[in-house]
Amino acid sequence: MKALVYGGPGEKQWTDKPMPAVEKPTDVIVKVEMTTICGTDLHILKGDVPAVTVGRTLGHEGVGVVEEVGSAVRNFKKGDRVLISCVTSCGSCPNCKRQLYSHCSDGGWILGHLIDGTQAEYVRIPHGDNSLYPIPEGSDEEALVMLSDILPTGFEIGVLAGQIAPGDTVAIVGAGPIGMATLLTAQFYSPARIIMLDMDANRLEVARGFGATDVIQVGSEDAVAKIMEMTDGVGVDVAIEAVGVPATFGLCQEVVAPGGRIANVGVHGKSVELHLEKLWIQNISISMGLVNTNTTAMLMKTVQSGKLKPAQLITHRFALNDIMAAYEVFGNAAREKAMKVILSA
Ligand SMILES: NC(=O)c1ccc[n+]([C@@H]2O[C@H](COP(=O)([O-])OP(=O)(O)OC[C@H]3O[C@@H](n4cnc5c(N)ncnc54)[C@H](O)[C@@H]3O)[C@@H](O)[C@H]2O)c1
Ligand SMILES: [Zn+2]
Ligand SMILES: [Zn+2]
Repeated sequence: MKALVYGGPGEKQWTDKPMPAVEKPTDVIVKVEMTTICGTDLHILKGDVPAVTVGRTLGHEGVGVVEEVGSAVRNFKKGDRVLISCVTSCGSCPNCKRQLYSHCSDGGWILGHLIDGTQAEYVRIPHGDNSLYPIPEGSDEEALVMLSDILPTGFEIGVLAGQIAPGDTVAIVGAGPIGMATLLTAQFYSPARIIMLDMDANRLEVARGFGATDVIQVGSEDAVAKIMEMTDGVGVDVAIEAVGVPATFGLCQEVVAPGGRIANVGVHGKSVELHLEKLWIQNISISMGLVNTNTTAMLMKTVQSGKLKPAQLITHRFALNDIMAAYEVFGNAAREKAMKVILSA
């Protein structure tokens, strides 16, 4: 079969690889029908995630059809259509029992990281019973690909951790797929205002279409002054960091109102400055984390009902065989006006 294989920093190849096989009774082999590329895959290709070794198949998102199941798999059989979660979880270890799937003792984020991932014709999913979700008949499967990673991430680590409440003023820093997923799911809670910040004017325009009430173009506008002006000098109830650089975490600290929350979603490669000397007296809470995907089933219901429309995030479509071209487009997202690309087998 073909797979997108990591060849060390800056190197990747769409090449032949042996078919995955059931290794443990709880494994499920899935024929990948659709997958996508994540910003994290670009980080890996830059060499920022050294745990990924040469020869690894990338990818942690997708939908597919069950090809084979191990003898202990109870929830799925050959032919079932499934959504693949970016987080693998056994469902029975102490962390899984409290839905902290990202810290499953035999799972967590391993797909396309520590084991071969979804950017391939077939993928082995360990603990298939808990790591796959059945796709209801008649679903928009492209939309569901957005539920493997970005929507649970924005919702759990941004919206829920930030405790967005009706009437809140929210700032989301970063209008990439994760910031957009946060923007879409924040609206479940009817905040009064959602201010989206980015440097990319096109992404800000898209954000307006997705429900941002205000946008600020970082770099050409003084973001802190503008937010203070918009909020009568008070600041925002919830500041969500969806970039992963020190400057944006700093910005969140400057614009959060007394009693407010900073929800950090971005993955940071460098340490940030934490201004405890200013924040303590303002009663600020700070949260951070790796997505658990324990909200996937709930999010799927909101997609089924039409309340959440994640297909809006898809800007480009390719055949799985053209994945090298898709990387070229996704890797130049600003120039190509790309948000999420769909690869179909
Ligand atoms: N916590 C988790 O579990 C989890 C899961 C997935 C992704 N992430 C992280 O979330 C972050 C966002 O992911 P993404 O895929 O949307 O990334 P992305 O690179 O597509 O988007 C980031 C956006 O931030 C903007 N930006 C860059 N610098 C900025 C600045 N100084 N001010 C304002 N905007 C700025 C960029 O223009 C871009 O639109 C990444 O750090 C990613 O690794 C976290
Ligand atoms: Zn991802
Ligand atoms: Zn577990």
